[in-house]
Formats: sequence, structure tokens, C-alpha cells
Amino acid sequence: MQPQSRYDIAHECTITNNNHQTTYMQIITTKKALREQVEACKQLGKTIGLVPTMGALHAGHASLVKKSVEDNKVTFVSVFVNPTQFNNKEDLEKYPRDLNRDAELLASLGVDFVFAPTPEEMYTKEEMDTTFSFDFGGLDLVMEGKMRPGHFNGVVQVVSKLFRLVEPDRAYFGEKDYQQLAVIRRMVEVMQFTDIQIIGCPIVREESGLALSSRNERLSAEEKQTAVNISHILFESRQLTKSQTVKQVESWVIEQINRVEGLTVEYYEIVDQTTLQPAEDFSHAIGCVTVYCGPVRLIDNIKY
Ligand code: PAF
Repeated sequence: MQPQSRYDIAHECTITNNNHQTTYMQIITTKKALREQVEACKQLGKTIGLVPTMGALHAGHASLVKKSVEDNKVTFVSVFVNPTQFNNKEDLEKYPRDLNRDAELLASLGVDFVFAPTPEEMYTKEEMDTTFSFDFGGLDLVMEGKMRPGHFNGVVQVVSKLFRLVEPDRAYFGEKDYQQLAVIRRMVEVMQFTDIQIIGCPIVREESGLALSSRNERLSAEEKQTAVNISHILFESRQLTKSQTVKQVESWVIEQINRVEGLTVEYYEIVDQTTLQPAEDFSHAIGCVTVYCGPVRLIDNIKY
């Protein structure tokens, strides 16, 4: 007999986690099957949490998922390496993928549904080939937007599609991708996803201070040691805010990181936490950094 979930919705797969506990979680690969499950949840009056991810899950993602499981009756996690948000083909190809490992973690966290479509299932050919158009109100002209043209168009394209498919009550995003969170908040306003609450969750760090990222998997042990300097320098910069100007602190951080062999800063900008425009002082300011550690592009940020 097919096992039944806590919510009496038919599930197709069982996953046994490392503690030999069996949880029922369905992995869905088509939009049609996804909609069927969403509609069933809605009919039962269950609140829905959505955690959009690109897989290669780590404790940072787990913190979002745990929050969603706590806050909602049903949690959907999407695992989809979204091709339209990559402006670098090699980065897309090298992006780590391991659905079995991800599924095991998600089942152990009490997730109900994983949506893992192929790009062909997610997009028409035209959608794949055309840059998604959206009025970012200038949020795309700074930092990540400036360095990765088209990146946020792809993010808005996929997240708005997921929002329409899952119709969540709450959606969870990490503050490590701080600019992405700002873009999503704007998207919700502009596209009038008024029933969806956006929950931003704090950065999760290794004990060393390194911000968790799926890209860390591409760092050698030595590179990882080197990368730890990024967060240490950011933390140290907090001490300077009483005596130095925003521009001086920006220059100091860039210089300190570039001094570490193996690290190259792409940008460090101290901006207003809401508008992402250059900050005039440290009240309500956030410093956002992108650093190349060898070939791997890492991002981090610090609130002042
Ligand atoms: O943050 C990410 O992993 C991705 O940008 C997201 C939000 C899942 C969209 O593909």
C-alpha cells in the first residue's frame, strides 16, 4: 500500500535518512503534477511555504527549510539550476548538482514536496532564448546587477513562475544574496504578489566565519582556508566605522582582501540596506562584497 503523508496527499517516494528514519516526500518533475498537489493542499486549507533553491544544499538552505516547516503546514522546495540567470556558460555547467543527496537532506527536514523540473519543462524555447523583461527601479544597475547583466532578469523570471505555480503563503530567501532579496521584494510589489510574505533569513556561516555557499564545494581545502579571510576582514571593518568615512572603510576592505594571496575583490560597496544606493553614513548600511578565490566567485555581506 502506498504510504500516506501527514496531510493525506498521495506520495510516490519514501526516503530513509542517515538515522534510518523514513519520511514521505514526493519529488515532482512536471508543472502539471505540481499544480495538482498545490490545489490539493489549498483545498485542505493548508498554508504553503516555498523555498526556491538551485540544489547543492547546505546548512544555509537547511535553515530556510526549517523555518518554512515551522511556519507552514506544507513545504515545497524547488531544486532547479535556472539556466536563464547564468551569464557565464562555464559557471552554469560547473554548478554542482546532486538531487539524491539534496532529497535525502530535505526528507530529513520534513519537506513535503520537491519540485525538480528540467529546463525544458520549466521554459518554452522562446522563454529560454529571450531576456525576461522587468523594471528593477535601478536595483539591477549596481553590484551583482552591474557585474552580471541579465542575472536578475533570470531570477525574477524563475521566481515569479514558481510563485504562480505554488501560490505560497510564505517564501524564504537567504540574506547572503542580499541584492537578490531586495529584487524579490520589489518583484512582489511590482507584480502584485500581495498574498505572499517574503521571509529573509540570516547568513549561515561555518565556524571559521566563511559564509556557506554551494560554490564552496568548488574550493580546494587550501582555497577554503584563504576564503575565511573575507568574513574576518568584513567583521574587522565594523571597528572602523566610528572613526572613518564610508569611502575610507570601502577602500580599507578592498585593500585588506586584495592583500591576501589568492583573493581578488571584484567589488565592495557600502550601500543603503533598502535602496542599495551608495550609503552616506553607516546607519542602515550594508557592505556587499564579491571576491574571486582562485576561479570561484564568492559573495558575502555585513550589516553595519
Ligand atoms: O538563490 C538562488 O539559489 C537562486 O537565485 C533562486 C532564488 C533559487 C532562483 O533560481
